[in-house]
Amino acid sequence: MHHQARWFRDPDAFLPARWLERPERALPDGVFTPFNIGPRRCLGERLAWKIALVGLAVMLGGLRLVRFPGANETG
Ligand code: HEM
Repeated sequence: MHHQARWFRDPDAFLPARWLERPERALPDGVFTPFNIGPRRCLGERLAWKIALVGLAVMLGGLRLVRFPGANETG
């Protein structure tokens, strides 16, 4: 399903930025299923999300956030 041009623009290209616009929100149910659906769906989905969250926290924990010069309160 994830490789069908009907649903995904240029589906075989590696374009991580495509997810910035959250295209999966506009798709019908069952089209975007990274963990599959139904009786054979991923048993580890909840664990995978937790691992991703912890990994992100560890990576971001090593950073110091600074205000970008010229940025205002909203931007
Ligand atoms: C980003 C992380 C992960 C993704 C995208 C993912 C995705 C998937 C997908 C698509 C399937 C279905 C495969 C099929 O239909 O043949 C699957 C099955 C499965 N996944 Fe994951 N998975 C992830 C992480 C994990 C983790 C962390 C575990 C366990 C620690 C896990 C355990 C399983 C098991 C046991 C199945 C087989 C379920 C069955 O056949 O009844 N997965 N996963």
